[in-house]
Amino acid sequence: MMRLSLRFVIPLALTIGAIAYGVVPLVDKLTLAWSVRDLDMRSKLVASAAQEPLVELLTDKARDRVRLQRVQAFFARMLRDDRLFALGFCDATGTLVYKTHAFPATVACPKPDLPAADAGTVLKLPGGPLHLVASPIEADGERLGEMLIAHDMSYVERRSADTKKYIVWLFAALGAVIALITVVIAELSFRGWMAGIKALIRGQSLALSPQPQARELGPIARDLEALVKDLETERRMRDEAQVSWGPDALRAILREDLKGDEVLIVSNREPYVHVRRNDRVEVQRPASGLVTALEPVMRACSGTWIAHGSGNADRDVVDDHDHVMVPPENPAYRMRRVWLTKEEEAGYYYGFSNEGLWPLCHIAHTRPIFRAPDWEQYRAVNRRFAQAVEREAKTDNPVVLVQDYHFALLPRMIRDRLPNATIITFWHIPWPNPEAFGVCPWREQLLDGMLGSSILGFHTQFHCNNFFDTVDRYLEARVDRETFTISYGNDPTEVHRYPISIEWPPVTLANQKPVPECRADIRSALGVAADVRLGIGVDRLDYTKGILERFAAVERLLELQPEWIGRFCFVQIAAPSRSSIEEYQSLDARVRSLAQRINTRFGRPGCDPIVLKIEHHDADQVYAYYRAADLCCVSSLHDGMNLVAKEFVAARDDERGALVLSQFTGAARELAEALIVNPYDIEQCAAALHVALTMPPDEQRERMRRMRGLVQEFNVYRWAGRMLLDAARVRQRRRMYSAARGTPKVVGLRRG
Ligand code: F6P
Repeated sequence: MMRLSLRFVIPLALTIGAIAYGVVPLVDKLTLAWSVRDLDMRSKLVASAAQEPLVELLTDKARDRVRLQRVQAFFARMLRDDRLFALGFCDATGTLVYKTHAFPATVACPKPDLPAADAGTVLKLPGGPLHLVASPIEADGERLGEMLIAHDMSYVERRSADTKKYIVWLFAALGAVIALITVVIAELSFRGWMAGIKALIRGQSLALSPQPQARELGPIARDLEALVKDLETERRMRDEAQVSWGPDALRAILREDLKGDEVLIVSNREPYVHVRRNDRVEVQRPASGLVTALEPVMRACSGTWIAHGSGNADRDVVDDHDHVMVPPENPAYRMRRVWLTKEEEAGYYYGFSNEGLWPLCHIAHTRPIFRAPDWEQYRAVNRRFAQAVEREAKTDNPVVLVQDYHFALLPRMIRDRLPNATIITFWHIPWPNPEAFGVCPWREQLLDGMLGSSILGFHTQFHCNNFFDTVDRYLEARVDRETFTISYGNDPTEVHRYPISIEWPPVTLANQKPVPECRADIRSALGVAADVRLGIGVDRLDYTKGILERFAAVERLLELQPEWIGRFCFVQIAAPSRSSIEEYQSLDARVRSLAQRINTRFGRPGCDPIVLKIEHHDADQVYAYYRAADLCCVSSLHDGMNLVAKEFVAARDDERGALVLSQFTGAARELAEALIVNPYDIEQCAAALHVALTMPPDEQRERMRRMRGLVQEFNVYRWAGRMLLDAARVRQRRRMYSAARGTPKVVGLRRG
C-alpha cells in the first residue's frame, strides 16, 4: 500500500514542482514578450495612422489655443480604441506640449538628440503597467517632435493569470494521469519481473512464466537460466553420485520426492505372460529389454502396470477387473491386462508398430511399411490404453510411465483425460534423423502425440538431438536446446537422455553356479570338449540385431584363423519374435540356412562352429551361458541401448570374458572397454573375435572390472530414479504455477 501511494505521490509532486518552479515563470515571461511585441506593432500602426493628420494639425497656422484644442480633439478620437490608454506629443525641444488627460505625470519626453527607439518600453506604474512608444513625427524631412503612445497593459496580467490557471489545471491533470500510469506499469512490471526472476530461479523458462511481462527480462534470461540449470545439474549429479542406487533409493524417492503419488506403467509387452502348456499354466518372462529394465523398478515402486494380455492363459488368472498380482512367487505390484482382438493386434502391433515404426526408427535398411488400416488400429488401441489409464488412476495426477513406440499417441490422449498427470514417455529404440522419420505419412500426429508428455526420454543425446531436429522440421513448436524443452501447445515437454540399464546386482546372479561349473555344464550340454572356446549371442530373432553379420564374422574368423576350427563354438540364443511378420519369417530362414552352411563347411565331430537355439530361454539359462562363455558378441546394426551387453558384464563376477560390441548400440557409448566394432565390417568383426579369444586374462580382468563398475554405478534404479526425480521436479513446478495463477493446487483427489 505504502509502495503504491509513493508511486502515485512522487510523480504527482514532481509535476507540481515543475509547474511552480518552471512552467509558471516561463508562462509569465512568454506572455509578456508576446504582448510587448504585439503592442509594438499596434503602436507602429497607431503612429503611422496619426502621422498625416497630426502633421497637418501641427503645421496649421491657427492660433496656439485653437491648435491645442484641435490636437486634443484628435487625440480624444484616437483614444476610442480601448487598448490605447493615453497619447502625448513632445515638440522638437523635448517639451510635452499636448497630452490626453490620463497621460501619466511621471512620464517625461525622450531627449531630443537621442535616436528614435524601435521597440517600446514597459512602465510599471501604480495604476498598472503601461507600454510606451515614442514615435517620431516628421514633415518634409523636418522632425516636428515625437508622439507618445501609451497602451494599457493590465490585460496582459489578466491574460497571463488566465493562461497560468489553465496550464496549472492541465499539468495537474497530466501529472495525475502520468502518476496513475506509472503506478499501473510499475505494479505490472514489478509482478512480471518478480515472477520472471522466480521462474528463472525455479529453473523455468521465461516463455513459460505465467506473467507475460517477465519477458522484459529476456536479455538476462538466458544467462540466468543457464546458470540455474548448471547449478541444478551439478547438484543433481552430486546428489545422484552419493546415492546408493537400489530399490530402497527408489522407494525413498517415491516417498519423499513424489510424496507417495501413484505410479502407473504402460507398455505393450507384459512382464509376466501366462501360457498354457500340457494343461498346466506356466509363467514366462518375455525376452524384452524393456521388461528386463522396468520389472525391478516396479517391484520397488508397487503401483500398476498396464499391458497387453498376450498369453493364452492370461484371462484365466485375472480377477473381474483384469488385474493380477505379480511376481507370482512374491506379489509386489498389480498388473492390469488389456485385451486386444486379433485384428487390433495385427494392425497395431504387427502392422504399424513393427512393420512401420520399428524399421523407420532403426537404420537396418529394411523398408518401413505404412498401411492406413494399421494406422487406424494403432490409434484405436492407443485410445483403449488411454481409457485403461484413466480407469486405473486413483488420483487425478498420477505419474504415468509410457513405454516405447507402441504408444506414440498415448501421452496426448492421457493428457486430454488427466490434465494434471505427469507423463514420462520413454522411447526404447533409436530416434532417426528428420529425413528418415519424414517418410511416415502420419509424422505430425505421432510427434503431437509424444509431445503430450511432460518428459520424453531417449537412451542417448544423439537420439534426443534427432528428435529436436525432427520437431523443428515438422511442427510449429519452440525447440529450446539449452533448456532441453519443447513448447508445443500448453504444456512444455522436457527431452532428456536416460541411458537404460539393468538391476545391480542382478537377482538372477544369486541363483547361478560358480563360473567353472557353468563352463563345464554348458559344454557338456552342448556336447563339446572342455577346452572348446565358447562365444555367446543372445537376442530376439530380429533383423536389427545383426545375427547374419555375426555368423559371417565367425565364418571369416575360421577362414582367416583355421586354428579355431573345432576349437571354437558360437552359441546363438534367438528368442522367436514377431513371427507373423514376413520379414521375420524370412530372417528366421536365412539365419538357419547360414548357420547350417557354416556348420557344413567348418563343423568337426563334437564341435559345430554355430549352435543355433531358436527358442525361449529364461533368465537363469541365459546367465548360465553368459558365465560359461569366453566372449559375448553384440553386433546390432542399430540398437537403442542393448541390455545383453550389460547383462553379460553383470554376469561375469569372475571378471573374465570379452565383449565384442557394435558401435551402433547405445551401450557402446558407455562400455568403452568392449571391443567396439562396425558389424557391417566382417573383416573387422572376425579380427575382434580373434582378439577376444586370445585376450590375456589380465586384460580381460582390467576391461571387465571397469565395465562392471560402470553398470553397477549406472544401474536401472538410477535410470528410473533420475526420471522419477525429474517427474517430482516437474510436479513441484506445476504446483507452483497453479498457486501463482490462483487456480486450485494440484492435489490428488481420491475417488474412493
Ligand atoms: O527394447 C525394445 C523392444 O522393442 C521393446 O519395446 C520390446 O518390448 C522388446 O524390444 C521386445 O519386442 P516385442 O515386445 O515386440 O517382443
